[in-house]
Amino acid sequence: MTSDTATKMDKIVSLAKRRGFVYQGSEIYGGFAGTYDLGPHGVALRRNIVDAWTCAMQEHESMAFLDSSIFTAPEVWEASGHVSGFNDPLVVCHSCHSRLRADHLLESIHVQADEKMSETALNDLFDAHRKKLACPACGEKNFGKVVQKNLLATSTLGSFGEEDKKIYLRGETAQGIFINFKNVLDSGSYSIPFGIAQIGKVFRNEISPRQFLFRKREFEQMEMQYFVHPKKAHKAYEEWRKERMIYYEKIGIVKENLRWKQHEHLVFYARDAWDIQYKYPFGWDELEGVHNRGDYDLTQHQKFSGVDFSVTDEETKERYIPNVVETSAGLDRTMLAVLSEAYDEDEMNGEKRVVMRFTPRMAPIKVAVFPLLRNKPELVKKARKVYKSLRKKIPAVAWDDNGNIGKRYRRQDEIGTPYCITVDFQTLEDNTVTVRDRDTGKQERVSVKGLARVLQKKI
Ligand code: GAP
Repeated sequence: MTSDTATKMDKIVSLAKRRGFVYQGSEIYGGFAGTYDLGPHGVALRRNIVDAWTCAMQEHESMAFLDSSIFTAPEVWEASGHVSGFNDPLVVCHSCHSRLRADHLLESIHVQADEKMSETALNDLFDAHRKKLACPACGEKNFGKVVQKNLLATSTLGSFGEEDKKIYLRGETAQGIFINFKNVLDSGSYSIPFGIAQIGKVFRNEISPRQFLFRKREFEQMEMQYFVHPKKAHKAYEEWRKERMIYYEKIGIVKENLRWKQHEHLVFYARDAWDIQYKYPFGWDELEGVHNRGDYDLTQHQKFSGVDFSVTDEETKERYIPNVVETSAGLDRTMLAVLSEAYDEDEMNGEKRVVMRFTPRMAPIKVAVFPLLRNKPELVKKARKVYKSLRKKIPAVAWDDNGNIGKRYRRQDEIGTPYCITVDFQTLEDNTVTVRDRDTGKQERVSVKGLARVLQKKI
């Protein structure tokens, strides 16, 4: 594929690999569907997203943080309803053996399948439209029956002398929060209303992982469950919806690329559900879900575990089960949104370039320091001194002496480094360096003495 015909998505995937953001999982063995590995700049970008989300949650005075286990008792997923209800409808193309989502096929001809439909009802709906549906991979109309496929990924755990036990890997981080609700409350530091937030890995047996970081089988969620009196749940829900949209604008995503979409068909646990959608290179789709889960989860865990999850109303002394407002953001989808938002191509000094216009907060490297020539010891010595002193004052400063200066600028533009510092012969005379702005390419001379302050202000 030439660069002219490559889509924006192809270009992002290619840059992500070329510049050490994201690699295909198990790439040397031909790749492993639905998995991706983060390279050095991907790790830094992930950390910046985690920091921004954590800061946003910490703005609330009553916010607890949790880190719960990935291995959980199977009863957790039976109580939560995931074992029986966390399904996607699978249909196989008998011509090319592609495994496809029946609801996605139906959506492509504007027919909606309800999440709560039984397998029989789904097959009736699919059969009613079968003639209009073709396999997107081979174009044939040779589908089998629709089967409800459970999304929970399983593993086994055991020891010698015992049969290994089938267990579920967590399908959402939220359940770790529900089963620890009482532990956090009993610590005495929190009272209703309060939130519990956590970031963690989630595993789903997705039928058709696709669109790079968008639909993976192993991904990360940044979830927050806000426990509130049932009468105050609606107001809290509206407040959280407002707040979550503002958050995305704060991390540098433009308003025009964000919108709300209400769920027409609610998942088994939700009373109301809205998605924040982002305009990805392949179109609008979900970035974060904001759900009113009512008392569904705590009631289920109370029923299955026998532990009392009710609390006392301070004023009326009545016992009640708190309601839950959930904000559920995908870390990988946020990364894809931030990468898409930053990707740009322009011309500088008569040359085409690719530039990642990350906000300084999201940029994996904030400042790169170069000696003009790597074979001039006096320049290298001075540049290393500047580099070392900046590292103490500014996060994520990089050293780059690979290739000529033009190549270094191009590389740092593709990594999205907002500022490049060059130590040249004039530096040795007057102790000034050039500071080059990624977006404009303009350079200014700044005294080494005040350099850290100037950069801190810009960043
Ligand atoms: N606790 C609620 C919950 O898990 P969800 O809509 O299934 O709700 C929440 O997932 C978020 O997790 C989504 O908005 C999305 O950002 C992310 N997510 C879900 N499935 C994903 C997948 N297969 N790959 C990457 N991110 C995913």
